[in-house]
Amino acid sequence: MIKISPSILSADFAKLGQQAQQMQQAGAPWLHIDVMDGHFVPNISFGAPVMKCIRKDFDGVFDVHLMISEPLRYIDDFVKAGADMITFHLESDSDAAATIDAIHQKGLKAGIAIKPKTPAEAVKPYLDRVEMVLVMTVEPGFGGQKFMTDMMPKVTEIRHWIEESGRDIDLQVDGGVNGETAKVCFQAGANVLVAGSYLFSKPDYAAAIQSLLPTD
Ligand code: DX5
Ligand code: ZN
Repeated sequence: MIKISPSILSADFAKLGQQAQQMQQAGAPWLHIDVMDGHFVPNISFGAPVMKCIRKDFDGVFDVHLMISEPLRYIDDFVKAGADMITFHLESDSDAAATIDAIHQKGLKAGIAIKPKTPAEAVKPYLDRVEMVLVMTVEPGFGGQKFMTDMMPKVTEIRHWIEESGRDIDLQVDGGVNGETAKVCFQAGANVLVAGSYLFSKPDYAAAIQSLLPTD
């Protein structure tokens, strides 16, 4: 199923709760929460306490994207703060299988993410046990970067493997998604699009979300 997950990295942090609520009213089923530690990526965003504060303002799915070096250490914190699904990077220092298990033990969905330089093959060993794969279409760390079209073959390849697996796995893309690049992502096989700067810069969130969805 096709879904849009607005990234609150581009929200006004002084109005996080209000803007999360507005995105929900505008029809966003998920909210993408970018956690950065200034170590795995060269930027610091926010952590579990901030996320917990906006839980009451958004009833949908909290789609947490951990861009941190040791995701396994922090799974409990994000569970307690209201995560519904947790995606971590295969390039992080935590053992991937153990991290997936820790997320599942808490009853959450687990996702694995790959940076642009990581080949599609890296996700293959985990397709029998994850609920989502995230293909980064920018270098993680900042919103508002240019979409990397050359990531699309990776998306198509992973979509093919997901179909072969027969499992219901979401395929998410994150970075540089706008009204034009969204089409390219869907064509390549993605079904969940993260969008930050594109959505939050628009005065009408509902129209902006609609403009990302396929028209047919
Ligand atoms: C980048 C983050 C993205 C970011 C996307 O490291 O993972 O979720 O917010 O921002 P835009 O949509 O502006 O590229
Ligand atoms: Zn993200």
